[in-house]
Amino acid sequence: MIILKSPREIELMKNAGDILAACHKEIAGMIKPGISTWEIEEFVDSFLERNGATPEQKGYKGYKYATCASINDEICHGFPRKTPLNEGDIVTIDMVVNVNGALADSAWTYAVGKVSKETSHLLKVTKEALYRGIEQCNEGNRIGDIGHAIQSYVEAEGFSVVRDFIGHGIGAIIHEKPEIPHYGLPGKGLRLKEGMVFTIEPMINVGKYQMKMDVNGWTARTIDGKYSAQYEHTIAITKNGPLILTEQK
Ligand code: MF3
Ligand code: CO
Repeated sequence: MIILKSPREIELMKNAGDILAACHKEIAGMIKPGISTWEIEEFVDSFLERNGATPEQKGYKGYKYATCASINDEICHGFPRKTPLNEGDIVTIDMVVNVNGALADSAWTYAVGKVSKETSHLLKVTKEALYRGIEQCNEGNRIGDIGHAIQSYVEAEGFSVVRDFIGHGIGAIIHEKPEIPHYGLPGKGLRLKEGMVFTIEPMINVGKYQMKMDVNGWTARTIDGKYSAQYEHTIAITKNGPLILTEQK
C-alpha cells in the first residue's frame, strides 16, 4: 500500500531533510586523507543530537550505526570503521534522520583528496543520474520514466546501474511502497501521484552491475572490485513537480 502524505507531513519531513542536508555539508568539509569513517559516525551522532534529531538507521533491522559508510568497491551498507581513508578513495555516507517521527534519507559520495579521472567522471555521472531521475517526478509520469532516464544516461556514459538495491517510499518507517528501480522502461509502472514521498538513490558502478555480499550479511560490494558511487535524495511529488526534501543549500 502506498501511503500518501499531506502537505503538513511533507513539511515535517522537509525539516528532517534540512538537518540531514546540513549534516552532509559539514561532512563534506571533514573528508580528507587520514580521517576515518568512525570519526564521521561520531560526528553525525553528535550533530543530530545537537539538532534535536535521532539516527533512524541505528537499530533498524539490527543495523548498529547512524551511518552507512561504503568505501571504493563497496556499493552500500558498509560499516563505519577506524581505518583511515586514503587519497584517491571514495566514500558514500548514507543516513536517515528522524525529527519527532518525520524521516528523511540521503546518501552522498565524497572524493578523498585527489581522485583519478575515471573516478571523478563516475561521481559526476552518478550525481547527474540522480537529478535526471528527479526531473521525471511530475504527477502523471510513471515510475519506469525515472529508471529509464537514469539507466539510459548512465549506460551511455559507459557505467552500469546496480539492480539489487532500489529507491523506496519513506514515511513513518524507512522502507515503504512504492519501489523505485534505477532502471526500466518509459511509460511503464505506477503513475506518480501528489503526496507520494520516496527516495531516488542510484548506485552506479564503473564495471559490472553485479554485487557480492560480505560475510557480515550487510555490506554489498562490486563483483569485479571496481568503484561504485551513490547519491540519494528524498523527494515529494507535489502539484508543482518534485520537491527535494534533502537538498543541500
Ligand atoms: N538509507 C538506506 C537506504 O537508502 C537504508 C539503510 S538500511 C540500514 O535505503 F539498515 F542500513 F540502515
Ligand atoms: Co539512504
